[in-house]
Amino acid sequence: MQSFYLKPENLPLEPIQYTLGIETSCDETAIALYDCRRGLLAHTLYSQIEVHNQYGGVVPELASRDHILKILPLIQQTLQEAGLERSSIGGVAYCAGPGLAGALLVGAVLGRSLGWALSVPTLGVHHIEAHLLAPMLEAEKPSFPFLALLVSGGHTHLAEVKGLGDYALLGETLDDAAGEAFDKTAKLLKLPYPGGPAIAQLAQKSRTERFHFPRPMLDRPGLDFSFSGLKTAVNTLVKTTDHLDEQTRADIAAAFQTAVVETLVRKTERALRQTGLKRLVLAGGVAANQALRIEMDKMAKNQGVSLYYPRPSFCTDNGAMIAYLGSLRLNLGYCDPPFTIRTITRWPLDQLF
Ligand code: KG4
Ligand code: ZN
Repeated sequence: MQSFYLKPENLPLEPIQYTLGIETSCDETAIALYDCRRGLLAHTLYSQIEVHNQYGGVVPELASRDHILKILPLIQQTLQEAGLERSSIGGVAYCAGPGLAGALLVGAVLGRSLGWALSVPTLGVHHIEAHLLAPMLEAEKPSFPFLALLVSGGHTHLAEVKGLGDYALLGETLDDAAGEAFDKTAKLLKLPYPGGPAIAQLAQKSRTERFHFPRPMLDRPGLDFSFSGLKTAVNTLVKTTDHLDEQTRADIAAAFQTAVVETLVRKTERALRQTGLKRLVLAGGVAANQALRIEMDKMAKNQGVSLYYPRPSFCTDNGAMIAYLGSLRLNLGYCDPPFTIRTITRWPLDQLF
């Protein structure tokens, strides 16, 4: 594969103060403005949940069309909230992948066009890399190196983050991502999309521990995950249960959530022991899950490890993480090659360069 981040040749003559960030990799249109001196100035987001809800999952074609409708008004709103003119933008970062092909293209084409029109550098950045560095947007940020568990709708990664651009992938899912497992299980329980928050809410109504699901891959060495078997176990139970009343659905939701949480926590604990790292970051949409946060907190305390989370709105997809990463890299001299518009739908984290 052709390398995506070209090695920087020249540092910008002057620091790029204001970087616009554009995120359109899936079902959220998100924009932010990051000031390399003062930090995040403004961020806006439009979620397409309502558009996809009736289909039980993201419909790629509808996602692209909706990004097109929302992206310009959101950029305008973000500029207004930051109190900046369009001409102040010194660089543009957009998410170049991984993600849905058509959705990525909306952000990439607009980002490149804006850069051309304003004569400022642009850079397509890696979505997962941006998630990994999202905790850096918070007042209490981890220093390098740290272990990151990234759990989202498309990804389940355990990675050692040694520094900017220096990531070692320690484990990943072999099939469904953790968020995907939540979404698919929610569908089986007739819950709306996205399934994570819906399952978490229903699970709170559970009163008994009458169901127990397997903890996938915990009995095997290594740091990889697999969640598709868990979804199948729920499916089998749902099909063989006569009265799928509210209480039974709540008990199934709780048992499923407990199985996912325990699997994530035990594997993370294993990765901490293996690497000896003393800082842990939890990121991605599933990191918003309260049960996961509580159990991860307990484990981290027992291990003497400091735990960091981005705020919930920066755990899920957002423009701030793209603007932040873009600002870092553009100021180091990285930028897109001239006269190209590139996106990568499948872009492994260890193939950044
Ligand atoms: O990071 P994200 O916004 O988008 C991707 O890059 O995929 O993550 C979305 C995923 C969805 O699968 C959603 O069901 C899950 O995160 N999610 C949750 C919760 N909130 C969102 N999963 C479990 N519990 C939650 N509270
Ligand atoms: Zn994401």
